[in-house]
Amino acid sequence: QNQPDQMITKPRPWSTSLGNPVAFHPYGQPSKYEVNLQRRQSPGLTAVPQASVAFSPLQGMFGIITANGLHFERHHQGWVDVDPTEHRFMINGMVKNPKVYTMDDLMRMPSVSRMHFIECGANTAMEWGNVAVPTVQYTHGMLSCCEFTGVPLKYLLQDCGADFKNAQFILAEGNDGSSETRTISMARAMDDVIVAWGMNGEMLRPENGYPLRLVVPGVQGVSWVKWLRRIEVGDKPWNAKDETLGYVDHMPDGTLRQYTSIQECKSVITSPSGGQALLSTGFYNITGLAWSGRGKIKKVDISVDGGKNWKTATLNTPILDKCLTRFNFPWSWDGSPAILQSRAVDETGYVQPTKSQLVAVRGTRSIYHNNAIQSWQVAESGEVFNVHVE
Ligand code: MTE
Repeated sequence: QNQPDQMITKPRPWSTSLGNPVAFHPYGQPSKYEVNLQRRQSPGLTAVPQASVAFSPLQGMFGIITANGLHFERHHQGWVDVDPTEHRFMINGMVKNPKVYTMDDLMRMPSVSRMHFIECGANTAMEWGNVAVPTVQYTHGMLSCCEFTGVPLKYLLQDCGADFKNAQFILAEGNDGSSETRTISMARAMDDVIVAWGMNGEMLRPENGYPLRLVVPGVQGVSWVKWLRRIEVGDKPWNAKDETLGYVDHMPDGTLRQYTSIQECKSVITSPSGGQALLSTGFYNITGLAWSGRGKIKKVDISVDGGKNWKTATLNTPILDKCLTRFNFPWSWDGSPAILQSRAVDETGYVQPTKSQLVAVRGTRSIYHNNAIQSWQVAESGEVFNVHVE
């Protein structure tokens, strides 16, 4: 007990030798001690790794910005690394002057940089029924948040002379093999949609659509078309394959709900969370993320007794529109079993539902848009488990 800690009393090798030279890694790398913090696939989730997903390790991330190398990935037919000099972006359909832009054409236009979350509509899809996966990486890791830079789509539609009187929709199309296309309303296209090349101050990563992707704030990830090559302007929705065969919600009465694009208000505690363990009783900072596709986060409440009592968490600034918001809550663990939950409220007044409230309306076959309150059970041993609380 009274032995001095040699880690502080004895000089360590790194304080008695010359360090590495500058530009040893011309492009910086994380420390080798951080090797476990990785995007991960869920074994057996998909038949092939090209039509699959790699989840972001939310449990090990700080603040609200996702490091580019940890951004989640969701591809329908694998990712491609497109030569930007060969990349073209076209606007056609109900426009006076159909145009083809090179990357150089786009990057000399007035640009904006805005921080937004992106969440796949299928995030938390495995949890509609029973508890399916153990950690927050797999329950909520189809979620990331970046500062995106690009041209507002509005400028480009104006540049091509879109027929704003009669056109009501646009169709966005990608350049990969998946033929992914998505219909977006003209009202949204003229609001805050960005044709983006920048992600956290550098070019997009190939996995995330390099050199060009659509940023559709608040809307499910599938509409954020990657390797964006074309936008068509039209007067009706296209009902494309990713709007009819997939990305529709199976309702309990057997009907299918289409074009449910907005990611409703949601939150999750990222630490302590499933798969982690509390080492001793005493103080813990409960921390996590809240977001809403309809605007800013107004409030996050925390329960440590499975939803019986709630107390308000502190929200870190900045609190931005359609962006992740970090919350913190001080908690002293007395060693008895606890169930940790977070419940977010957005600026429209919408309150994140419990699982039973959500299932009462949506049933359990929806796949998409599961924004129910997440529960983490702390056992007497300190181990934390994913549990469902009605
Ligand atoms: N765009 C193209 N061209 N091809 C794709 O497979 N996947 C979509 C969307 N855009 C996809 C695409 C889906 S389903 C999601 S959730 C997001 O991209 C994921 O973006 P990310 O891989 O950058 O996280």
